Amino acid sequence: MRLITKLLIVAALCSTLTVFGSTSDADKAIYKRVDALMKKMTLQEKIGQLQQLTGRKSEITGPAGEKMNTAEFIRRGLCGSMLGVKTAKDVAYYQNIALNESRLGIPILFGYDIIHGCRIIFPENLGISSSWDIAAIEKSAQIAAREAASMGIAWTFSPMCDISTEPRWGRVSEGSGEDPYLGAKIAEAMVRGYQGDDLSDPNTILACVKHFAAYGAPQAGRDYHTVDMSRRMFRDRYLPPYRAAIKAGAATIMTSFNDFEGVPATGNKWLMRDLLRDELGFTGFIVTDWGATDEMRNHGVAANGKEAAKLAFDAHVNMNMVDADYIKYGEELVKEKQVSVKTIDLLCREVLAMKFRLGLFDEPHRYGGDRYKSETYLPENLEVARDVARKSMVLLENHNATLPLKGSERIALIGPFANNRKEMSGAWIGFCEHNRSTTYLEGLQARFGKDNVVCVEGCKPFSAIEGGIAEAVAAAQNADVVLLTMGLPNSCSGEATSLTSIEVPQAQRDLLDALDNTGKPIVVLLVTGRPMDVGYEVERADALLVTWHAGTMAGPALADVVSGDFNPAGRLTMTFPLNIGQVPIHYNMKRTGRPRRSLEHTQKYTSRYMFTPNEPRYAFGYGLSYTTFDYSDLRVLTPEVAMGESVRVSVKVRNSGKCDGTEVVQLYLRDDVASTTRPMRELKGFERVELRAGEERRIEFEITPEDMSFWTINEEFAQEPGSFHVWVGHDSNATLGGEFAVRK
Ligand code: BGC
Repeated sequence: MRLITKLLIVAALCSTLTVFGSTSDADKAIYKRVDALMKKMTLQEKIGQLQQLTGRKSEITGPAGEKMNTAEFIRRGLCGSMLGVKTAKDVAYYQNIALNESRLGIPILFGYDIIHGCRIIFPENLGISSSWDIAAIEKSAQIAAREAASMGIAWTFSPMCDISTEPRWGRVSEGSGEDPYLGAKIAEAMVRGYQGDDLSDPNTILACVKHFAAYGAPQAGRDYHTVDMSRRMFRDRYLPPYRAAIKAGAATIMTSFNDFEGVPATGNKWLMRDLLRDELGFTGFIVTDWGATDEMRNHGVAANGKEAAKLAFDAHVNMNMVDADYIKYGEELVKEKQVSVKTIDLLCREVLAMKFRLGLFDEPHRYGGDRYKSETYLPENLEVARDVARKSMVLLENHNATLPLKGSERIALIGPFANNRKEMSGAWIGFCEHNRSTTYLEGLQARFGKDNVVCVEGCKPFSAIEGGIAEAVAAAQNADVVLLTMGLPNSCSGEATSLTSIEVPQAQRDLLDALDNTGKPIVVLLVTGRPMDVGYEVERADALLVTWHAGTMAGPALADVVSGDFNPAGRLTMTFPLNIGQVPIHYNMKRTGRPRRSLEHTQKYTSRYMFTPNEPRYAFGYGLSYTTFDYSDLRVLTPEVAMGESVRVSVKVRNSGKCDGTEVVQLYLRDDVASTTRPMRELKGFERVELRAGEERRIEFEITPEDMSFWTINEEFAQEPGSFHVWVGHDSNATLGGEFAVRK
């Protein structure tokens, strides 16, 4: 027994002390070149490769305590990577310093946050995820990569794979919602989109899976706040998208700001070494989030920058973003034998290997130059952005078939986002040129004619405009229908935008009230990067369409949807709660020992609220179409299977309405009895199905053993025998179901 334990420890050590990288023939040649180069490097030059600096023109304190600018760091070989360099010209400028003025001429790796597009902005990621269109999502990443590469960027800090059930947390706009299964499919698609199948292709860039780990679960929805949960919960709900992205070959990973089990992620050996390297087999390199090494002082686990650097080195974090703790204290830590040369070599090796894979040593200016002139804003890519934007929009209400518009109406387009180029884009838009965005007004006028659409701002997102309401009311009175843009501005999306209210601001509600009094039909266009409590709006509006921050092609995409040229098919990927008191709320909650079974179930001692239903306003997977879909004849084709075998389920779906449309057919699974408590149901399959009016089709799903697996009581990801329930339908409330059994 003892011998086995020892052998295991030796094996574990070997796996972390040898190489991370893959052992393909191409990589063998690359590591040969890396090793030859490393022989020439001083210790400080190796540590320099582990340092990422910002392109912002600021001075940083250098290794000897002196103030230095970026160029000096580069000259001294103390900069392996830069982020936030915004023009191809600046990329070339810094690259030339590295090539010509540093001792070894090692090229710099330029990274940036290309989160939902580069020049062409796609909808914010929560919006994109609502398309459930994996191929379109992959394409959007591919276009973003191509544009970014042409601007000099070889590395994006995306995809954000943080599952979140927290609409208070503004960064939900950057993610794919609450569901691990869908999140995993999107994560791998984005990695494929960015990286293609060849990193040496100058049109592909490195992906970076972030924020590892569980950044989407901050206490009380407050950004950067503590994350504490069981490892079981983490593995079952939060890990799958990260794992899928790694499996898809993601080249890099970013540590998260938060602590996890009391240890900041950036110094968390369990996360970075045991789980990421040893268990998940991640072979790329790890970068910290912005200043996250030094922030370990604020977390209170390091007394100073040197201790912080040691923690990050010990966790085998390869690259330090922006704070200078690695280059300031690395050499000293090695001299004092607190960090080994071996560790530095190990970390540096992977950074250099990635630069070789990208072809930077052979052709350091391959990203950037003049390429952006011919490779950004390509018309065919703008069309993809339009298609993704309209596919992302989710129709939540549509009374009396208010939408689609008939085409002959006089339209009053009102609200703070109606004709506001800047507000189309959302957060993280470093390369966005707002003048290239089309507004809702432009889109609608192009579709319905200039004279048929009048536009009034009415109010600002958070405040009234003098005379604004009166002007809006006058416009409404002269129109047949009101399209009212409401919601939250870009500045309420993304990092550091946590909120304790997810209602539409009062100034906009005042405008809505006044318009409601005109008696005209009102279509609310909800501009948001997060789920909102829209109870007030729903009571007053005839239709409600979530447009998100739809990006460069917002205008035409909206026109496509409201005109009926495109039949909406977006489905929510995050629950919209009844009110903020229900948060966190998500469809895949646990059952509890005292489940409340229905709205009518009023037994006091059940898991429920006294005065509010448990159910949300709009469930995960929900979204309307201009047509209707009926489900029937669900068949479990394999009612009994052995462990390791797949289950097949089929169902008939019919377009029962009057126009063609796309349904997102969704399959949910419940493991009835397991060794640990399991969710009420979990998404385990979906398919976007286009059906002509009246058309019926049988759709078949395969539920694999992996789909049935979870982190069992035996601490392994495995399948267990027993009975399962399966449902297929329109959303997570699907009722048409069946059962099957898995034999031992
Ligand atoms: C964010 C990251 C981002 C990084 C670099 C940080 O503040 O948390 O998501 O990639 O900055 O811009």
